[in-house]
Amino acid sequence: SLHCNLTGNWTNDLGSNMTIVNVSNNGEFKGTYHTAVTTSKNEIKESPLVGTRHNNSQPTFGFTVNWSFRDTTTVFTGQCFVDKEGNETLKTMWLLRSNVSSIDDNWNATMVGTNTFTRLR
Ligand code: BTN
Repeated sequence: SLHCNLTGNWTNDLGSNMTIVNVSNNGEFKGTYHTAVTTSKNEIKESPLVGTRHNNSQPTFGFTVNWSFRDTTTVFTGQCFVDKEGNETLKTMWLLRSNVSSIDDNWNATMVGTNTFTRLR
């Protein structure tokens, strides 16, 4: 049966690209994320990600992006699916945390959304 592998280059429905490398025996991995969009006026720069995944045919996973051009953080969680033809899809949800100056502004400091990733070939 087919196995969904997180290692490699991925693109999502927003046009963002990410590369996952170094998936270790215990399921920890690293990579880089190049977002197509931003909430800021800053120039977008490639940013590091770290995560973990289970070791099975359609693994669940999570990773954190520490944006290098911005004081915000995004966490993604999802599952890697593979179809009969071997096409892999990552179905994810994300939380994007803004940096607010006061605890009074905490109530609207987190955005939520979904992204679908497919393998870049
Ligand atoms: C920021 O603007 O604060 C940093 C970049 C955030 C990009 C977000 S993360 C969730 C969503 N999915 C993407 O690929 N990009 C946006």
